[in-house]
Amino acid sequence: MVPKISTLSGYLYEYQKSVANPAGFWSHIAETFYWHKPWTKTLEWDFHKPEVKWFLNGQLNITENIFERHLFLRAKQPAIIWEPNDPSEPHRVLTYEELYEEVNRFANVLKSLGVKKGDRVAMYLPMIPELVIVMLATARIGAIHSIVFAGFSAKALAERINDAQAKILITADGGFRGTKVIPLKQTADEAIRSTPIVEKTIVVRRVGQNIQWNDNRDLWWHDLMKDASPRCEAEIMDAEDPLFILYTSGSTGKPKGVLHTIGGYMVYTAYTFRNVFQYRDGDVYFCAADIGWITGHSYIVYGPLLEGATSVMFEGIPTYPKPDRYWQIIEKYGVNEFYTSPTAIRSLLAKGEEWVDKYEMPTLRVLGTVGEPINEEAWHWYHDHVGKGRCPIVDTWWQTETGGIMISPLAGIIPTKPAYATLPLPGVRPVIVDNEGKKLYGKNVEGNLCIEFPWPGMARTLWGDHERYKQAYFSAFPGLYFTGDGVKRDEDGYYRILGRIDDVINVSGHRLGTAEIENALNEHPLVAESAVVGYPHPIKGQGIYAFVVAPEKLKGLDDELRESLRKGVAKLISPIAKPDKIQFVSGLPKTRSGKIMRRILRKIVQGSTDFGDTSTLTNPEIIEELIQGYQK
Ligand code: WT7
Repeated sequence: MVPKISTLSGYLYEYQKSVANPAGFWSHIAETFYWHKPWTKTLEWDFHKPEVKWFLNGQLNITENIFERHLFLRAKQPAIIWEPNDPSEPHRVLTYEELYEEVNRFANVLKSLGVKKGDRVAMYLPMIPELVIVMLATARIGAIHSIVFAGFSAKALAERINDAQAKILITADGGFRGTKVIPLKQTADEAIRSTPIVEKTIVVRRVGQNIQWNDNRDLWWHDLMKDASPRCEAEIMDAEDPLFILYTSGSTGKPKGVLHTIGGYMVYTAYTFRNVFQYRDGDVYFCAADIGWITGHSYIVYGPLLEGATSVMFEGIPTYPKPDRYWQIIEKYGVNEFYTSPTAIRSLLAKGEEWVDKYEMPTLRVLGTVGEPINEEAWHWYHDHVGKGRCPIVDTWWQTETGGIMISPLAGIIPTKPAYATLPLPGVRPVIVDNEGKKLYGKNVEGNLCIEFPWPGMARTLWGDHERYKQAYFSAFPGLYFTGDGVKRDEDGYYRILGRIDDVINVSGHRLGTAEIENALNEHPLVAESAVVGYPHPIKGQGIYAFVVAPEKLKGLDDELRESLRKGVAKLISPIAKPDKIQFVSGLPKTRSGKIMRRILRKIVQGSTDFGDTSTLTNPEIIEELIQGYQK
């Protein structure tokens, strides 16, 4: 188990230590894990190159740190409690021992299909225990997992498989989500038409629907698992070998394959899980995220299981069958720590407090939030109605690229403040810089959030494109890791995240690049050009507003065109990327160099007319048209 901070002075002491001697600090934590060979050097780094390595030459397998390390004590303890979409279907419990055997079986299956250390295995699965089994089985044999969120389209899936060059895809016949059945196999089949690299598809039966079958390629999970041995020796890996690739949106271009490596990610997710949530042995912890995103990777699977926790995994949605599903689950399993997103909180708040007030949830001790800034109203509702005023809220700021939580209260230890992520975790060194890169010290300052020193959980590169890694994170402010977020440090030294300052929008905690959505809109034969910006949305945090240049006025056809554009985006990316509002325009505000002046569009969708300097525009007259047509 990692060392646990239990007082405020303990936090201050550990923080100081982590700054004074980072290598010593993290070594001490890493020593609590099981290594085949200890590391010879704790850290090597250069943010200019950029290059970061932790626990150099250390050898280990992350799954031995989940299983072999815990089995003596926890063989019969639930590792995963799985709650199905439909509450009348039986739930499933996988103890550490059971999960261990399933993971080993599937590890043997992968081996029998020729998967080797370093190979990529793609997953397109709903929130079922098989997803956890596949991830850990992949890690057990030293292969690299790449999970694609089951809400992505065939095109998005194909793009990710091709970029990662994954030979094996694991999917399901379908997935349940509220009242819907999601045809995953059908979408996977469509994707595979343009992924020649995929040799085999393994299909988990979940919904029992008829699906197309390709005898040369498709294999049933249950057929393969039937005779597989429940023992598979773990591949011994280097600390800096890749663990997984997870794609995320950037401000430009195609999705970025964020790469995490084994040793540092392991130490970091375990340490942050234990300390932020103040997990106590025997607790039941419930993170309501999807494993298709980093939150699920780090805080449903790796962090909790590395610490020997019991992790609840939920297949469905918070409003099915009724908007009290989370509270029901919390009471059913006696959940002690609960972790969700501001968007989920706002959508439940909107349903009325009677849905939550009837649940006492006496076991709840800690509430967490992640994914986007939480507004004060949602914070108070969460605190008063869910936490009954007695549970601290940990507002955890981090990113796919950071691997784990970076700025957050430690539950019950660091005093909270609504909408503030509060203070950095030990080992995390945030710095605020102005647009010229000047560091802003002291209190009451606002600017770009950067991190000036490496931490073990940070992404090491973008898969196959190290130059882009450098461009995206280390070039805006040389020598610093740039997060893309704006931040404020207040009079208490507390951090408040203000949101993205690049062309990334955060819709219901899902990160989307405006360029990606524009490309999808521009595919439509009637669209000449488009520009997408985020606007404040009461539930989703940000909504998607698209300015679309279409030929003359398509009198009377506006609504049809809007609908077909939305469908197109859903098909090319995902339904989550569909624009909420589409305004047809005759042109976009452009500078003499031909760049769209997005600042103006952002102002318009906020209902503001304070445009600043517009003298560099070639077509200032367009602004009036845009304001006139602005859709509230
Ligand atoms: C972006 C990262 C980290 C898991 C989920 C999202 C925003 C994240 C917070 C928070 C304000 C937050 C940031 C960040 N964000 N947590 N507590 N308060 N903003 O991961 O998809 O990589 O997105 O989410 O803008 O840069 P992601």
